[in-house]
Amino acid sequence: MLPIILIARAIFPEVIAKLAQHFEVATNQTDESWTPAQLIQNLQGTQGVFTTGGERIDAALLAACPDLKICANMAVGYNNFDLKAMTAAGVLATNAPDVLTETTADFGFALLMATARRMAEAEHFLRAGLWTSWRYDLLAGADIHGSTLGILGMGRIGQGIAKRGAHGFGMQVIYHNRSRLDLATERACKASYVSKEELLKAADHLVLVLPYSASSHHAIGAPELAQMKPTATLVNIARGGIVDDAALAMALRNKTIAAAGLDVFEGEPAVHPDLLTVPNVVLTPHIASATLPTRLAMANLAADNLIGFLKHGTPLTPLNPELLTKR
Ligand code: GLV
Repeated sequence: MLPIILIARAIFPEVIAKLAQHFEVATNQTDESWTPAQLIQNLQGTQGVFTTGGERIDAALLAACPDLKICANMAVGYNNFDLKAMTAAGVLATNAPDVLTETTADFGFALLMATARRMAEAEHFLRAGLWTSWRYDLLAGADIHGSTLGILGMGRIGQGIAKRGAHGFGMQVIYHNRSRLDLATERACKASYVSKEELLKAADHLVLVLPYSASSHHAIGAPELAQMKPTATLVNIARGGIVDDAALAMALRNKTIAAAGLDVFEGEPAVHPDLLTVPNVVLTPHIASATLPTRLAMANLAADNLIGFLKHGTPLTPLNPELLTKR
């Protein structure tokens, strides 16, 4: 009998077809949002689940799904997984790193540019019929070339953004991270390590690329925003909850900082209503990795993790590899 797997959201038909060569596959191609209870119900009897970053896998779910052996996330971030509970339950977790690094760094840089140069605000202005004449300071924004780029969270994506800034735009790059990078990587990114306080004070543009955890919750709130330059821009492509959205909306309204670009939100897809009423923010619906080739590569990696582990015991990108040595 083939192992049974569940694909928890709609995904590419060709990836479903690949999985169907190895497994009995249950899908959610109607893409309805399942409650935790519905997810548990749909997981009964399944050995593997293909998740997309939104499905919470915690101790309660694991206890209710005793057949589950692997959860394969089609996302590099895995804050939807309680990794400790999964390891304790002997359930393998995998994510989808690397294949989205450059695409996501492209988007981070695009959002930075759109924010600093007020592109969304300018488009709304034009569409509203407000462009009636030239003005010396019409929608004037901040320069990107030659400015100071700050990066909080210097993993693979942070490094990709640093390289774009340093090599493409002559930016001075500073970063803060849980641990300092080795010198060769710092050199390749032309990046200098600074304290979080110095990063907040010195950055003209601050990009957040750190993982979400209890310790990064509201890492940027009112006290941090108050330390930034009034001309600064803030970009969050990491996770909602890293920024205190209410405090940010207030800082944008009061011009504590000049502008923000946000791809992720606390409690998304809901967006804090105050953010919808300030003009100096560019808002996008969590699409930093969304090019078709990259999303397909992420889906294939999640699928290959399921096949690798359930068929051969060799997943490609395990998050709790200690389980493999115990087998
Ligand atoms: C997207 O946010 C991801 O973690 O892949």
